[in-house]
Amino acid sequence: MSIENAKEMLLRATEERYSVGAFNVTNIIQMEAVVDTAVERKAPLIIQASVAPSKALGPKVVASVYKVLAESAPIPICLHLDHCRDVAFCKECADAGYTNIMIDASKQAFEENIRQTREVCDYVHGLGDLTVEGELGTVSGVEDQIKVAEDEAALCNPEQAVEFVEKTGIDIFAPAIGTAHGVYKTKNPKLDFERFEQISKLFNSDGAKVPLVVHGGTGLRPDVVKKLVALGGCKFNVSTDLKHSLIDATYDYISRNREEYNPGKIDIFVRQAIGEKINYWVDMLGCAGKA
Ligand code: 13P
Repeated sequence: MSIENAKEMLLRATEERYSVGAFNVTNIIQMEAVVDTAVERKAPLIIQASVAPSKALGPKVVASVYKVLAESAPIPICLHLDHCRDVAFCKECADAGYTNIMIDASKQAFEENIRQTREVCDYVHGLGDLTVEGELGTVSGVEDQIKVAEDEAALCNPEQAVEFVEKTGIDIFAPAIGTAHGVYKTKNPKLDFERFEQISKLFNSDGAKVPLVVHGGTGLRPDVVKKLVALGGCKFNVSTDLKHSLIDATYDYISRNREEYNPGKIDIFVRQAIGEKINYWVDMLGCAGKA
């Protein structure tokens, strides 16, 4: 099974109304922990690296570790470049072996977003069985240390969404519906479910055609997550939750074992914490046993 085309993976999820966890990782321990847990749960998986960790480790290192892990895992796994605003780096990561590339030109004017996204699609599709994710409207919050203020964020216009998908040739679509990156400031963030439903119907009412992504998973209430999955969100992005698990578990272990200098033990503790978080998401997204 191992490496699979992300669009095919996600169209299945759209049809069966579950969502694939798309988990952002910042290092190799996290990547291994995410894969191990997905294998235990027989869940399809998307591993994501945003631009900063991709540059820190190097796209070739990220892609090589992914390839080794994916090829020996009995589940389908994709490697996604998350929120890249730089067309050249999108191409570099596709060359290195990332299988789904997100060009995020959503802060550009509509026509420029189309132009940049189209350029990435043409290049990435020319390399083979690879896919591209594009975004319309902007998700607020902080991802990769890049802050988009709430008043700069704009929701996706459904009519423009159809034009955007047709003109760019993207495989996977991320419409902004009010979710945000990072920790929500309120327990009840204002999400536009009706808009999401309308977009979902436009693309997928007559058979699944365009997989839809929900960004900003961290902090959403379980009932909200389940509602978005039921409305057709087949890829659910989770980043901050895993960063917190990594840092909190590391801090926790070191505080309780201040005299010990054994990094391997910290790694075991961190892996457990990440595993618990992935289990929480897999249960909510309904993707266990779908691999
Ligand atoms: P969170 O950091 O809010 O989980 O958002 C993740 C995300 O959407 C990555 O693209």
